[in-house]
Amino acid sequence: MKAYLLDSAVARYVFEHTTPPDPLLEQLEKETAEIAGENAAMQISPDQGRFLTMITQLMAPQVVVEVGTFTGYSSVCIARGLSGGTLHCFDISERWTSVARRYWHEAGVADRVTLTIGPAKETLATFDQTVDLAFIDADKGSYPAYYELLMDRLRPGGLLLADNTLRRGWVADPAHEETTTVEIRQFNDLVIADPRVSVLMLPVADGMTMIRKN
Ligand SMILES: C[S@@+](CC[C@H](N)C(=O)[O-])C[C@H]1O[C@@H](n2cnc3c(N)ncnc32)[C@H](O)[C@@H]1O
Repeated sequence: MKAYLLDSAVARYVFEHTTPPDPLLEQLEKETAEIAGENAAMQISPDQGRFLTMITQLMAPQVVVEVGTFTGYSSVCIARGLSGGTLHCFDISERWTSVARRYWHEAGVADRVTLTIGPAKETLATFDQTVDLAFIDADKGSYPAYYELLMDRLRPGGLLLADNTLRRGWVADPAHEETTTVEIRQFNDLVIADPRVSVLMLPVADGMTMIRKN
C-alpha cells in the first residue's frame, strides 16, 4: 500500500473505500514486483490508477501523453478511460515497456496506445500534436524540461499531471537536501510561479499535482 502521506489506518480506510483494481492490474503489480525488485516501487499506486482512469473518462481527451511508462500500470489505467483518442507513451527502456506492451494487449487497449523509445527530452521535442491531457512520471530532474515541452503543446483548458511531487513530504522540510527532493522542490516552485496555469497538489500516494493550462 503506497500512501506515504497518510497514517496507516487512514490509508487502509482510503483503499477500502476506493474501487479496487481488477485481476489484470493485480497481476501486473505482482509480476512487476517479481521482475523489477526494488524498482517496482516506481509503479503508481492502485488509487492513483483509479484517479487516472476517472480523470480520463471525465475529460474525454483525444490526445494524451505519458512520460514514464515502466511496466504499464498507469498507461493501462489511462487507456481504459479513453472513449476514442490515443495515448502516446514515452520511455527510455525497451526492457520495462516490453511488459507494458503485453499488458496493453491483454487489456484490449493496444490499438489506442503508441510507444516511443528514447530520451523523452528528445522524443517529446519531435511530437507535433496538440495535447489534451499529460502525465509526467519519469526522471525527476527532467520534470522542468518535460513541463515546458508539454506546455507548448497543451491546449488551453488541458491538464498536466505530475507524480511524486511531495516526495514523501520531504519537500516541505528545507533541511532535506537529497537531490531528487531538491529537484522536485524546484519543479513545484516553477509551476506555482507560472501565470499560465492553475495548480492543485493532491496528497495521494507520493503526491500528484494537477496543472490546468488557463
Ligand atoms: C516511475 S517509472 C514510471 C512508472 C509508471 N508510470 C507506472 O505506472 O508503472 C519511471 C520511468 O521513466 C523512465 N525514464 C527514466 N528516464 C527517462 C528518460 N530520460 N526519458 C524517458 N523515460 C525515462 C524509466 O525507464 C521508467 O520506466
